[in-house]
Amino acid sequence: NGSMKILPSILSADFAHLADEVRDVEKDVEFIHVDVMDGQFVPNITMGANVVKALKKETKVAQDVHLMVTEPIHLLPSFIEAGADMISVHSEACTHLHRAIQMIKDGGVKAGVVLNPSTPASALQAIIRDVDYVLIMTVDPGFGGQRFLPTMIDKIKAVRVLIDSLNLPVQIEVDGGIDAETLPLCFNAGASLFVAGSAIFPFDDRHAAIEKLSQSVLK
Ligand code: DX5
Ligand code: ZN
Repeated sequence: NGSMKILPSILSADFAHLADEVRDVEKDVEFIHVDVMDGQFVPNITMGANVVKALKKETKVAQDVHLMVTEPIHLLPSFIEAGADMISVHSEACTHLHRAIQMIKDGGVKAGVVLNPSTPASALQAIIRDVDYVLIMTVDPGFGGQRFLPTMIDKIKAVRVLIDSLNLPVQIEVDGGIDAETLPLCFNAGASLFVAGSAIFPFDDRHAAIEKLSQSVLK
């Protein structure tokens, strides 16, 4: 399906064998999703720009970097330099959101804004014209394997209406609790980029797991 992409979240991969884990999905996807957590904006600490840089040498797959970090503007140069292909920052974490988005775009990287579940779609009003994509969190960020929040469907629809009313080429990404049941709901609401961690990496056959997600919209 050309209008949708699956982005495996390496948060659910085996960190001790990260390059092998990424190679195991690289034939099936264009992007992997890299969750960066600072132990402040969210409870966990995961990985930094050094991991993006190291994976860049080991694999051809592009990297979508999701910064769950307070004031990510200070880290943007290092992620751009490391070779990220897409970078998203949380609207809740940026005092100067337009400056952060502009810095990402000036670095030649696709720029996304992320909304936590409790942040309304209306928070996008002043930034939507400046971004390449909107990441709508369908769980509160911080952990893999959490339950999808069904009330986010209406938010996806509202963001789709906003984007279409302005005739913008902005894509909607969703992240958290995405599986073969929840993916089609998000697709029908207007999302096209689907992050999935626990629906892919815990399975022995990752190719089959990704195929199952791609096929779920056809049912
Ligand atoms: C959550 C992360 C997600 C996470 C999704 O804070 O942003 O990318 O890896 O994991 P699943 O698909 O297991 O909900
Ligand atoms: Zn994420």
